[in-house]
Amino acid sequence: MSRNILITGGAGFIGSHVVRLFVNKYPDYRIFNLDKLTYAGNLENLRDVEQAPNYTFIKGDICDFDRMREIFTEHRIDGVIHLAAESHVDRSIRDPFAFAQTNVLGTLSLLQAARLAWEDTGGMDGKLFYHVSTDEVYGSLDERGFFTETTSYDPKSPYSASKASSDHFVRAYHNTYGMPVVISNCSNNYGPNQFPEKLIPLFINNIRHNKPLPVYGKGENVRDWLYVVDHARAIDVIFHGCRPGDTYNIGGFNEWKNIDLIRTMIRVVDRLLGRPEGASLNLIAYVTDRAGHDLRYAIDSTKLKNELGWEPSLQFEEGLEKTVRWYLDNGPWLDRVTSGAYQKYYDTMYGERS
Ligand code: NAD
Ligand code: DAU
Repeated sequence: MSRNILITGGAGFIGSHVVRLFVNKYPDYRIFNLDKLTYAGNLENLRDVEQAPNYTFIKGDICDFDRMREIFTEHRIDGVIHLAAESHVDRSIRDPFAFAQTNVLGTLSLLQAARLAWEDTGGMDGKLFYHVSTDEVYGSLDERGFFTETTSYDPKSPYSASKASSDHFVRAYHNTYGMPVVISNCSNNYGPNQFPEKLIPLFINNIRHNKPLPVYGKGENVRDWLYVVDHARAIDVIFHGCRPGDTYNIGGFNEWKNIDLIRTMIRVVDRLLGRPEGASLNLIAYVTDRAGHDLRYAIDSTKLKNELGWEPSLQFEEGLEKTVRWYLDNGPWLDRVTSGAYQKYYDTMYGERS
């Protein structure tokens, strides 16, 4: 069946993997990648699919409602996979307004454009608005327990508050206007093409340059890591198999205390750089903690496994090795994305921490 699918944020980290999967796996679908190309968006991430006949890139801002209206009408969009967002917690602490603007108002603009277009052209049958969200909406866990689809929302950072708000708008459109929607809440992703403001690529890049590795607080916070291609596979499975109005948690049952992950990663990077294994452990620098730092996230993705048969395909050790290799093999990519504005970001964010 042919479909016209709008993927937002497709030039970002997760979005580029979702675009690649859909363009390659579904030649009958027309895939429109809408991205504003903020600091986090990079068309280099999509060089291998940009000539595909079923792929079109559109530069645009989801907050621009009139433009969203035009895009839905012009391309007869019948499915949306919405990933465009401001995604970094530390940035949200410095500039919460940008997060409310893109994540809340941008999502609302997209929802309204979809609703009006779909109501104008025969109704909601066969349409789907898929909103990609985060486990951070559930807040923070202590040492025990998991987030399930019925855990109450309790966001703690400006980023997670903005994502929670956007989730609520998506459900409101289902309840009020009968729009077929689905939401998935995923744990921490890692893998190729992630902007080096996030823990794993930032640390790999710093090890390359023998720069200090800024561990927040005591490094005791816990995250549940999932390889980005497995997240893209889950989005595919949910997009095609969900019940409209439903929610799915996506995670790897793969919890790591930050400091343990960092030590493991250092050993892998050292080995692949040909340094004595563990030589870079002395780069670890404990710095001032993130304000309001959530202690632990842990996702229970049993529902997704039981209902749609999805499971992570990679063991963490294998995924980490693949990831480190990708960044070391793509040094010029890292150098390009860390030139210019990145240096100012780094000095502002980390200068005051040390
Ligand atoms: P990212 O920051 O790497 O990419 C975001 C993309 O959105 C970029 O290409 C950027 O240019 C684009 N964008 C930003 N503002 C826009 C706007 N106003 N209009 C159009 N495009 C805009 O983010 P990511 O890590 O790939 O995350 C993608 C989505 O997945 C986000 O919604 C995020 O909340 C969610 N998520 C991320 C993770 C994770 O671990 N990274 C985990 C769970 C959920
Ligand atoms: O859980 C899903 C979320 O995971 C996504 O919704 C977010 O978009 C994504 O950014 C990620 O959020 P985190 O805040 O968990 O990821 P980050 O890579 O920023 O940090 C991971 C952990 O490492 C966290 O406990 C903070 C810590 N950290 C991070 C950085 C950047 C450090 O100790 N030092 C650092 O320099």
